[in-house]
Amino acid sequence: MALLLLSLLLLCARSPEPAMAGDPSLDAGAPLGPPDGVLINGLGPYRYNDTLVPPAITYERINVEPGRTYRLRVHNVGVSTSLNFRIQGHSLLLVETEGSYTSQQNYSNMDIHVGQSYSFLVTMDQNASTDYYVVASARFVADPDKLTGVAILHYSNSQGPASGPLPAAPDDQYDTAFSINQARSIRWNVTASGARPNPQGSFHYGDITVTDVYLLQSRPPELIDGQLRSTINGISYIAPSTPLILAQLFNVPGVFKLDFPNHPMNRLPKVDTSVINGTYKGFMEIIFQNNATTVQSYHLDGYAFFVVGMDYGLWTDNSRGTYNKWDGVARSTIQVFPGAWTAVLVFLDNAGIWNLRVENLDSWYMGQELYISVVNPEEDHSDKTPLPLPDNTIFCGALSSLQK
Ligand SMILES: *[C@@H]1O[C@H](CO)[C@@H](O)[C@H](O)[C@H]1NC(C)=O
Ligand SMILES: *[C@@H]1O[C@H](CO)[C@@H](O)[C@H](O)[C@H]1NC(C)=O
Ligand SMILES: *[C@@H]1O[C@H](CO)[C@@H](O)[C@H](O)[C@H]1NC(C)=O
Ligand SMILES: *[C@@H]1O[C@H](CO)[C@@H](O)[C@H](O)[C@H]1NC(C)=O
Ligand SMILES: *[C@@H]1O[C@H](CO)[C@@H](O)[C@H](O)[C@H]1NC(C)=O
Ligand SMILES: *[C@@H]1O[C@H](CO)[C@@H](O)[C@H](O)[C@H]1NC(C)=O
Repeated sequence: MALLLLSLLLLCARSPEPAMAGDPSLDAGAPLGPPDGVLINGLGPYRYNDTLVPPAITYERINVEPGRTYRLRVHNVGVSTSLNFRIQGHSLLLVETEGSYTSQQNYSNMDIHVGQSYSFLVTMDQNASTDYYVVASARFVADPDKLTGVAILHYSNSQGPASGPLPAAPDDQYDTAFSINQARSIRWNVTASGARPNPQGSFHYGDITVTDVYLLQSRPPELIDGQLRSTINGISYIAPSTPLILAQLFNVPGVFKLDFPNHPMNRLPKVDTSVINGTYKGFMEIIFQNNATTVQSYHLDGYAFFVVGMDYGLWTDNSRGTYNKWDGVARSTIQVFPGAWTAVLVFLDNAGIWNLRVENLDSWYMGQELYISVVNPEEDHSDKTPLPLPDNTIFCGALSSLQK
């Protein structure tokens, strides 16, 4: 099997670009709104319909040889919108997500949420009577026809341009089950070579005792001190002038508090620099509860986590009965559907102060993020956890006098 690697970057484009360093419209409570279009590797769309697409737009063309199998790495590098990816007449054999081999399954299309990555093996097994459409369309928006990226799959012996309608997006406007069922079908390949994380030298994460539980609830943006903010457990993150990691290494008091609440608090929301006190080599269960109205993707720096559960409604202790304790995939970015929860397990073996944030840029900008502090209590740090500070560290805030 000839395997060729192609990388497709899917992006929702907007104009004008939001100025994220203090965005007046976001601050005034105006959401970013839908994107203007979807780009594939910065290009397109191909003019698949003369009414919908203006002429003379440069589009991405993927040149392939008949009979070969290609690995397509597909990433949603947009800032707010979930996308559905598909190729006319070809099935997508899912093999990898964010560094983990998956159980290999064919899909006719795949929902890719903000910040997520997948690899598909695509075999060029169709006749070359025409080129084929490669499509990424916006999900959960009013008018996906206007928000559709289109590239071209071109066999070297192709007889003519792609034709016919685009392959259809999932028809599930009134059906919340399709996307969550597809997400649940993505499993870890437990017999493929063992990538991180692999706690206790086995794949049996379901047998490991959980040491800390965090139920993290988000709500629609709300006013705090007259400004629109997004929160997790009622706390909207504010970055201190002294970076967290420096404050910790140099014992600067008062920069942050290790008091992030482990469940939603029934109190007024506030802006704060509150950090989760993680336990080095602890095994943490995090449940994301999305009480807002849009899909959110959460990303944790420094780790991959096991995705063990996802469902609509409010998470309760009983929800643990539905967890996948055997082949939940380990990845770094996971979606949480509106009115639903997603549960992950993570082995905190990487010392540092790690960012956990929503990837949807407007909510992130409004404070929907936090940090997890993981301190290695052992004296001997020769295993390089954490790594020493680099020589070009920029000291700021309370430590600016240390700047060379
Ligand atoms: C192009 O799109 C328009 C608007 O959706 C539709 O009415 C028309 O049938 C499409 N044309 C073709 C050739 O599919
Ligand atoms: C798991 O990966 C191995 C090695 O790549 C592969 O041979 C096997 O078919 C995969 N299993 C599943 C269920 O996808
Ligand atoms: C996936 O689909 C291809 C046809 O495109 C087929 O050859 C292959 O056997 C299928 N693989 C699995 C695991 O279903
Ligand atoms: C090639 O595929 C198209 C679309 O599936 C089909 O209509 C056509 O008859 C096929 N041509 C040959 C020569 O197999
Ligand atoms: C953080 O957790 C460690 C144990 O992992 C504990 O020793 C320490 O007191 C905790 N700090 C705070 C501020 O709770
Ligand atoms: C948010 O929470 C409230 C109170 O529990 C509930 O009534 C509402 O349905 C929830 N909405 C979503 C989108 O989860």
